[in-house]
Amino acid sequence: MASRYPASWLDELRSRSDIVQVVSGYVALKKAGRKYWGLCPFHGEKTASFSVDAEQQLYYCFGCKAGGNVIGFVMEIERCSYHEAVELLAERAHIPLPQMVEDEDYERRRSRRERLLQANRDAARFYHEMLFQPAGAPALNYLRKRGLSDAVIRRFGLGAAPDEWTALTDHLLSKGYTLEELSSVGLTVVKSPEKEGGTVRSFDMFRNRAVFPIIDMYKNVLAFGGRSLGNQQPKYLNTADTPVFNKRKGVYAANLLRQERHLDHVILVEGYMDVVSLTQFGVKGVCATLGTALTNEQARLLRRFAPEVYLGYDGDSAGQHAILRGLDILQEEGIPARVLDFPDGLDPDEFIRRDGAAGFASLPALSPTAYRLRRLKDTTDLSDPEGRMKYARSAMELLLSVDPVERSTHMKALQLETGFSMETLQEQLDSLRHSTAPVAEKPKPPRPSVRKSGPAAAPDLAAQETLLSLLATGQIPKDMVEEKDFEDDELKSLYMSLVAGASSASVMDAAPDDEARSRYARILLSPTADSTDQLISMATQCLSRIRRAACQKQFDALQQRIRSMDPSDPAIPSLLMEAQEVQGKLDKYK
Ligand code: CTP
Ligand code: MN
Repeated sequence: MASRYPASWLDELRSRSDIVQVVSGYVALKKAGRKYWGLCPFHGEKTASFSVDAEQQLYYCFGCKAGGNVIGFVMEIERCSYHEAVELLAERAHIPLPQMVEDEDYERRRSRRERLLQANRDAARFYHEMLFQPAGAPALNYLRKRGLSDAVIRRFGLGAAPDEWTALTDHLLSKGYTLEELSSVGLTVVKSPEKEGGTVRSFDMFRNRAVFPIIDMYKNVLAFGGRSLGNQQPKYLNTADTPVFNKRKGVYAANLLRQERHLDHVILVEGYMDVVSLTQFGVKGVCATLGTALTNEQARLLRRFAPEVYLGYDGDSAGQHAILRGLDILQEEGIPARVLDFPDGLDPDEFIRRDGAAGFASLPALSPTAYRLRRLKDTTDLSDPEGRMKYARSAMELLLSVDPVERSTHMKALQLETGFSMETLQEQLDSLRHSTAPVAEKPKPPRPSVRKSGPAAAPDLAAQETLLSLLATGQIPKDMVEEKDFEDDELKSLYMSLVAGASSASVMDAAPDDEARSRYARILLSPTADSTDQLISMATQCLSRIRRAACQKQFDALQQRIRSMDPSDPAIPSLLMEAQEVQGKLDKYK
C-alpha cells in the first residue's frame, strides 16, 4: 500500500516555507512590482529573468522556463528527490515529520507507473547480477574486450541478457509482475493467442546481449538498450516508447549528469558506448540522445545541467549532418553550443582509445559558425576559381548574422583561402546586407514546432492558457467555464485543480512531469489585470475565441465528411442540417 504525506501537513509545510525566503537562501532577489527577481540559478545569465511570486508561492524563469513551487525549487537546486526536499523543508521550518497516511486512491493513481518502474528496476538488477554469473560471461567478456573496466561497468549498471528465451520473464513473473506489465514496458514480447494457436507464448525481448539501462535524473530505470555481442543484427535493440519512457524526452546517463556540479558544458554524443568510454577516460558531463536526432525537449533538459552544450557526434557523414540539425535546435532554444570535431571519421569512443584523454582535451571546440564554414569549405572545390567564388559568397552570407569580432576572425581566414581581398569581402557583405536588409537581423526564422512549454502555438490554445491564468486569480465565476473548453489533458487537469480550489503551489505537485510543471508555472504567473471587471471581460473574450474555434473545427470536420461521401448517401441531408446549425452558432460568435 502506498502512503503519502497528509495534505493538511503539506499545506502547513508550504505555509511555513515561504518561497521568497527559501529562494533567498540561494539567490539574491530584488522586489520589482508584484514579483521578486534574480539571476536564475539553473542556467547561466547576466540579466535577471528568474522570478518569484510571493502571492502565488511559485517561481518561474523566463529564460530557461524552469518553474514550480517551493518543494520543486529545493528538488532542483539540491538535486534531490521529492521526499528529501520535503524533509529538508520540514527541518528548516522545525516541523516534525508526520505519520504517513495510507491512501487507496493515491495507490490507484500512482501504482501502475510505479509498478512499471519497479519492474524495470528489478530487470536492471537481474541483468547486472547476471553479468557476473556463468550465463553472463559472454557479455562480460564482450564489454571487457571493448576496454571497459569493472568500475565503469558498475557505475553505469551495465548488464547481461543471457542467451535464453525466458530467463528474465520467469524471474520477474516469480516476483509477482504480470505478463501484461512486462510486455507494456517492453521487457517481454507476448505473442497474441490467435497467432499461436490458442496458447500465449512469450519470451524475453533482450537475449544474448550486453544491456545498458537508461536511467533518468530521478534514478528511475526507464528503458534499456541491448548491444549484440558481435556482428549480429540489429546491433542495438532499444525499448520502444512505453507508458514510462519517451525517447524524445530523455537522454542516456541523465542520472550521472545530475550528480555533476558546476559543469561548464555537457557533451552530447550519439552512442551508449561513447558515453561509457569517455566517462571511463575521465571526461565529465557526457550523455547521449537515444538513437534519435536531438529534440527541443532534450535540448531544454540539457540546459538544466550546464550553460553550454558541446556536440560530439561521430565523424562520419551521418554524424556531421546531425550536427547541423542539432545546432539549429540548440539555437532555437537559445543554448550556446560548440562542436567537437572528431578526425578521420572516428566516433568519440574510437578517438579516445586512439588518442587518449589528452588527445580528447586538445580537440578544438568549434563555434557553430566556424563549424558551418568548415562544412562549406569541405563541400567546395577550392582549387577551382568558380569554387572559390561560390565559397566566398556562401561564407559571407553565413557571416552576415555573426557578431563583428567573430566575423573579422573568419574574414581573415577567408581572405587567405579564397584570395579575395578584405575590401572585396567587406563589399560583398555590404551588398548582402542591403539586398536582404529586412531578414538580416533574423538569420533563421524559428521553425514552427509544437512546443508545449513555449508560447502556445494555436491562438485558441493561447486563449485557453490565458483563461486558466485568469481563473487562477480566483476572481472569475467558476461556472463561466467548462472542462470541455480545454483541449489537452494537461490543461483540463489544471482546470479541474483550480475549480476544486487547489492553491497554485499545490497544483504544481500534481503536474505529471517537468514539462508540465514549467507550463503550469508560466500560466499561473502570467501577468493579469487588476480589477475584477477587467478580468471577467478578458475571460469572456478568451471564451468566445475558444468556443468559436471549437465550432469552426466541428464545422470543418462535417464539411470534410460530407465531401468524402457518395452524393447519393441517405445520411447527407441530416449532416447538412447539422452543418447549418453549427454555421448558425459560428455566425453568432462573429
Ligand atoms: N543505434 C540503434 N540501433 C542500431 C544502431 C544504432 O539504436 N541498429 C543507436 C544506439 O543508441 C547507438 C547509437 O545509435 O548507441 C549510435 O550508433 P552507432 O554509432 O552505430 O554505434 P556505436 O555507438 O558506435 O556502437 P558500437 O561502438 O557498439 O558499435
Ligand atoms: Mn562505436
